[in-house]
Amino acid sequence: MLNPHAPLPRHVAIIMDGNGRWAKRRGLPRIEGHRKGADSVRDVVRASRELGLRALTLYAFSSQNWDRPMEEVRALMELLRDYLVEERTEILENEIRLETIGDRTRLPEFVRGPLEDLIRDSAENDKMTLCLALSYGGRESLAAAARRLAEAVVAGELLPSDIDVRNFGQELSTRMLPELDLVIRTSGEQRLSNFLLWEAAYAELYFTDTLWPDFSRATLYQAIESFQGRERRFGLTSEQVRLRRL
Ligand code: FPP
Repeated sequence: MLNPHAPLPRHVAIIMDGNGRWAKRRGLPRIEGHRKGADSVRDVVRASRELGLRALTLYAFSSQNWDRPMEEVRALMELLRDYLVEERTEILENEIRLETIGDRTRLPEFVRGPLEDLIRDSAENDKMTLCLALSYGGRESLAAAARRLAEAVVAGELLPSDIDVRNFGQELSTRMLPELDLVIRTSGEQRLSNFLLWEAAYAELYFTDTLWPDFSRATLYQAIESFQGRERRFGLTSEQVRLRRL
């Protein structure tokens, strides 16, 4: 049961893992796991919006996923396009803003078209941000931010000594999202796999053995319950945290 008196995470990010294993256990091709995984995406977006989360970031395709077999990459891109086309009305009616992080220029045109249309048409929505990490890598994103700051230094707009956590964070594509509170990873693996490396600095981590295609509203609630039971200290002592709450 969620605790109505404890705060909800504002921003939840999910590493959706285990589609391949889900399919293999049923003797099905991997793509069937991804297809079922896309249904979990639909359910979890709906549940997150109903709960009142401010932002939900989904690791849909990493920079490294381009190296998967060509047919799997193609199938994932088609699922993504289908999702954008089929969910467009629901996203707009529920006043969800769609955003992405990652290198959109690498996506095929049949994905970029509906994606950019929906980003544009949902830009004024403010009930929840759905952020899809597409062709995304945390290290790549950090390197790009460092590159932009270096360029500003070379252009004489910034001193190296001016670079700090605040302006570095402002160079990241996640700057438009609230602070990351909770990272969920499915399928029993316990690692970040190049996801939101900077942003996860003080996030709570929740690992579940559930494979992504079996993930449901109930699993999301379990993760949030666990989050609500934790003490977040941000480097302070327990006593300091309690005094600040008074
Ligand atoms: C990881 O499972 C999952 C992915 C690389 C892709 C995630 C894609 C979806 C859930 C569907 C499409 C997305 C949207 C937003 C509609 P895996 O294949 O690595 O699983 P395994 O570790 O069991 O092989």
